Amino acid sequence: MNFLGEIEENRPSFHIYPDQGLLNDPVGLIQWKGIYHIFYQWNPYATNHSHKCWGHVTSRDLVTWQREKAALIPSEWFDKDGCYSGSSIVYNEQIYLFYTGNVINTDGSKSSYQCLAVSSDGIHFEKKGPIIDHPAGYTRHVRDPKVWQGEDNCYRLLLGAQTENLEGTVLIYTSMNLQQWKFEHKILLEDLNFGYMWECPDLLIDQGKDISAFVFSPQGIPAFGINYHNIFQTGYLLGKFDELKNQFSPTTAFKELDHGFEFYACQSFHDETGRLLLFGWLGVMESELEIGLPSIKENNWAHVLSIPREITIAAGQLKQRPVVELQSLRLDKIFLKTTITEPLNLEQYANEIGIDLNSSVRTNFSMNLYQEIQIDWQENEKLLTVSRTNWITKKREYRSAFIKAGLNKLQIFAEKSVIEIFVNDGSATFSLRCYNEKMQPVVSFLDPSSKIIQAFLYPLNQ
Ligand code: FRU
Repeated sequence: MNFLGEIEENRPSFHIYPDQGLLNDPVGLIQWKGIYHIFYQWNPYATNHSHKCWGHVTSRDLVTWQREKAALIPSEWFDKDGCYSGSSIVYNEQIYLFYTGNVINTDGSKSSYQCLAVSSDGIHFEKKGPIIDHPAGYTRHVRDPKVWQGEDNCYRLLLGAQTENLEGTVLIYTSMNLQQWKFEHKILLEDLNFGYMWECPDLLIDQGKDISAFVFSPQGIPAFGINYHNIFQTGYLLGKFDELKNQFSPTTAFKELDHGFEFYACQSFHDETGRLLLFGWLGVMESELEIGLPSIKENNWAHVLSIPREITIAAGQLKQRPVVELQSLRLDKIFLKTTITEPLNLEQYANEIGIDLNSSVRTNFSMNLYQEIQIDWQENEKLLTVSRTNWITKKREYRSAFIKAGLNKLQIFAEKSVIEIFVNDGSATFSLRCYNEKMQPVVSFLDPSSKIIQAFLYPLNQ
């Protein structure tokens, strides 16, 4: 449905994916003159992490996508080995795009350059070269510029960085014209000593609100309890950003943005209606899982972006909800029978499933999707667990989160190989990829109980 004319059997129908090659981070996200421009890290030549270009798709409705030619391809001395992640902003009726040029020097060492490219039509980008000097005291791991304009009209730019002591951090720069940038300092006053590198920094400012979320993707965080079980994490601190000091003061500890398996390196932007939207990469995984992706063997492509999520921050809580535009994909609503344990047959794999639960009925809840994904709620511990089969080791794998408010609602966007679960109107999310030959388009409620008020399903237009 969404990429008109693409009919490959196992392609996603409402997630953005590359027609060939490997996709990673969403980058440069912007709505300009009514059109959403979604760029992504893309190796069009092979399904590995070399030759990163900026892939590009456009849409007027966040549902129907058109493929565009690559916006950036490695070509110059400052980006010859990869046009890495970055962001966009509209300035003087043009799109100003900031990205990191990756260079492998003749002696094998690497350098990174923070670069600018400008476009007057949203399709062709003219490279202007590096605009920021390498900051002293940091290794070559300085990348992923995220630009925004403050309430005070000053432009600000965040850079993921690594100190010479091999600690992850984020640097902040300021500018009045997007060309000359002044290095301020680290965005946090106090070091967190949290991992060896922080990638893809972002500041999620829900307009008119005092509290914002400082998002980053730290590397090198050991698993702890039910947290940090993926190879790398993406998470946030809530707090206040002070424009006079250019500093973020956190009021919470680091929290993962998504509790599933592959969500990583997300980016936010404000669209022309003022909504704060976010896409993530689904995503980061061990290389043996990546190499073994069936989509590589079958059709030579790897990875998808998450569906667009609308972000709100209120009453000390960050919520992520699927954008309302996705409702246009809904076909006729079907109510699901929840009093039997036999699998209920579905017409197809592309579905939105809604389950309303009674949080005051203190029982457990379990359901299974496609004979593969298991969702288990343990009432006593207030613990939600999602599990799947690892498509290489064939072992079951689990990810969990505590949901203190109890389980009230699940909204699930499912395709055959990618599932996104929104808990309690977006208070928590779980995203994952899944592949298993035994999958069937069925859903089962394993523990029929009075906890389910109703369960319904919309097959989604493909
Ligand atoms: C995050 C990341 C970024 C980098 C890009 C390269 O996944 O490693 O830090 O710019 O991917 O593709």
